[in-house]
Amino acid sequence: MTKTAELHIDGKVYELPVLEGTEGEKAIDISKLRAQTGHITLDIGFKNTGSTKSSITFLDGEQGILRHRGYSIEDLCDKADFLQVAHLLIYGEYPTGETYDKFKNTITYHTLVHEDMRKIFDGFPASAHPMGVLSSLVTSLTAFYPESLDPTTAPEGVDLTIVRLLAKLPTIAAWSYKNEMGHPLNYPNNNLDYVSNFLQMMFGLRTETYEINPIVRDALNKLLILHADHEQNCSAATVRVVGSSQASLYASVSAGINALWGRLHGGANQAVIEMLENIMEDGGDVEKYIAKAKDKNDPFRLMGFGHRVYKNFDPRARIIKKSCDEVLESLGINDPTLEIAKKLEEAALKDDYFVDRKLFPNVDFYSGIIYRAIGIPTEMFTVMFALGRLPGWIAQWKEMREEGQPIGRPRQLYVGENHRPL
Ligand code: ACO
Repeated sequence: MTKTAELHIDGKVYELPVLEGTEGEKAIDISKLRAQTGHITLDIGFKNTGSTKSSITFLDGEQGILRHRGYSIEDLCDKADFLQVAHLLIYGEYPTGETYDKFKNTITYHTLVHEDMRKIFDGFPASAHPMGVLSSLVTSLTAFYPESLDPTTAPEGVDLTIVRLLAKLPTIAAWSYKNEMGHPLNYPNNNLDYVSNFLQMMFGLRTETYEINPIVRDALNKLLILHADHEQNCSAATVRVVGSSQASLYASVSAGINALWGRLHGGANQAVIEMLENIMEDGGDVEKYIAKAKDKNDPFRLMGFGHRVYKNFDPRARIIKKSCDEVLESLGINDPTLEIAKKLEEAALKDDYFVDRKLFPNVDFYSGIIYRAIGIPTEMFTVMFALGRLPGWIAQWKEMREEGQPIGRPRQLYVGENHRPL
């Protein structure tokens, strides 16, 4: 029997269908609410609003569960390659054998970016933030592949756009770093796997063979997987809304990159390191910063703490914390910011303010420390997040398109002036 919820307004009763997801999550379907009652719902920041049904990612914030297409994030981090997770998210199946080989080879074949794009790079000053360069260059791909402008094209056309994005984003990301450094650009080496190739384009010199450290490669593979999708977050919701107007996949992903840039979302990993460095430079008094974070008159927040949906722990933070220890140990790095991070974590976890509000370290608290240890500059951290999140954005866009969802267009409650004569 279908469950319903009753809504009482001005003495009238309206029945609203109650839907249940495959993991028992419940939703009240209000899609006909305005037509039936003349009312809209108001939910600033979408804290209670489901914008879509989705089969990609399941997340239980209370229990700290994260699964992609049914597979746990722990299993995927343990056993998968990032490109396998990308395929899983985008096409719904975990690829092995020939399927995976074919997918990998196609992506390898498309890693070069058009030489004319180098002219665009040349136009950016070295001071350009790599996230701005990345989003601009991704939008520019529409100029080189104009057929992508029509996303209603046949599935093969969409698949080619997907492959090009996955293949070229690491090249563009590494080039945006080289641009910042003022170094000559490195070309992709198609004999290397996806992660090693990225490391080679970032840190290799044209004149020498770049030695891949397997521990670094493995940590980066895990980091990319950990960021691969996170259901309807700020950037994924942006990608869906932009894509719902039938903007191209490149334009939609570029919008996602910009949404990710902010410090309350993907920019938090950069903000964490900056915060740790500030604390260190200020004498390392962790208690002082805990007090500042609790003070409502002080805008300071403990970056890398808290999450909109995880209210017990962030499962990604657990995996990454372990990886972080391994990388630092194997590279023999003794990073004083890590000591500050550990002290902050300890102090916050036993402080009533953080305990009562269920504020725990999120994935960004540790990811910045790993990026720093492997030599990635702070301004590139959010670019690393974007590389990882790319398959999630593509999967969310593709699902939205395939379901023929309508254009995303929220309502509002107008609270401004009434009509007045001019
Ligand atoms: N430091 C201090 N206090 C905090 C923090 C923090 N990092 N995060 C939340 N709070 C407090 C708020 O002041 C609020 O307190 P109140 O109830 O007394 O007013 C309460 O906890 C709830 O916070 P909200 O801002 O309402 O929570 P929301 O779900 O809107 O925000 C967010 C979540 C944006 C992640 C927030 O916790 C934050 O700003 N964290 C720091 C930035 C960060 O690490 N972002 C990365 C998120 S993970 C990701 O995007 C991959």
